[in-house]
Amino acid sequence: MLGEATAPGKMILFGEHSVVYRGPAVVLAIDRRAKVIAGKRDDEKVYIDADNLGFSGYFEGDEYHAVRGKAWRGRNLAALNMSTRKTMERLDVESGVNLKVRSMIPIAVGLGSSAAVNVATVGAVQRLFDGDLSKEEISNIAFEGETIIHGKPSGVDNNVSTFGGVMSYERGKGFNHHQIEGSIPFIIGNTRKKRSTKKMVETVAVLRERNPALMDNVIDVMGSIASEGLDALLKKDLKRLGDLMNINHGLLSSIGVSTMKLETLCHTARANGALGAKLTGAGGGGCMIALAEETELAEVERAIRRRKSDSYRVSLTDRGVESRRIEEKNADS
Ligand code: PMV
Repeated sequence: MLGEATAPGKMILFGEHSVVYRGPAVVLAIDRRAKVIAGKRDDEKVYIDADNLGFSGYFEGDEYHAVRGKAWRGRNLAALNMSTRKTMERLDVESGVNLKVRSMIPIAVGLGSSAAVNVATVGAVQRLFDGDLSKEEISNIAFEGETIIHGKPSGVDNNVSTFGGVMSYERGKGFNHHQIEGSIPFIIGNTRKKRSTKKMVETVAVLRERNPALMDNVIDVMGSIASEGLDALLKKDLKRLGDLMNINHGLLSSIGVSTMKLETLCHTARANGALGAKLTGAGGGGCMIALAEETELAEVERAIRRRKSDSYRVSLTDRGVESRRIEEKNADS
């Protein structure tokens, strides 16, 4: 038997960058998922097949051996090795593990791909060994894995990927989960430009050092937008939600984290019927999101594609990590 788990990606609706200082961020789990299948090995290796991402290799202890792709890819995969070993440690088992990773979440564009793969890894490995980890524990183990890649992540990504749904987060105050009936469709526009969150956060810090008082005002307004935005989201007040997205984007642009392409995509979305559009996540490339009435979605999606960008329709999802045991012969389904 094998263990299989899936976990969703995420998008930040409000509060990116301001949340680094204060105020809430509002984050949604989206219905694009990562899947991991775990099987036992006779040795002590953790073998990771991430062929659809272009690399595969195995770990002996902490040491990575590339089978396909460059050796530095070991840095991306180290989190999965760590999460796998921590999960086995917690369940008191010693074994080698094969992990097959398949993800529908584009990488390094702010959609929470690494956290989703990590959460799904913990879910699949615990299922493989008949574990009974709570969601809290799954999220915590995945978080330890995340720290290897991101240094000091906030914990938002692993949390929302584990629990699904809508989450608000404030530094020092922790996470709140919110219920929302039905679904709200969004369009994601992907510039396909990878970027580093760390670098973008540093850019904002430099700007704030030169302009402390003014930047503090901007950060406060972004925090207010996030609070109001959560209210509009929970009330499904789409017009107000769209306004707030537009205003938030203007402020993100003002602090230098937008790009020409992100601007083009936001303006394109609005000109083609979106109620609101903004960049999502760290900026400097990556993705933007647009909100539109059901009848306008297809046109917004097409318009973004005409700008030589990827575009996907996503809905927020309540489904967090899900795992099951499967027969070996069903592993490719
Ligand atoms: O693009 P992402 O998903 O890495 O989000 C970054 C969010 C920031 O607020 C810019 C940084 C952070 O740690 O909160």
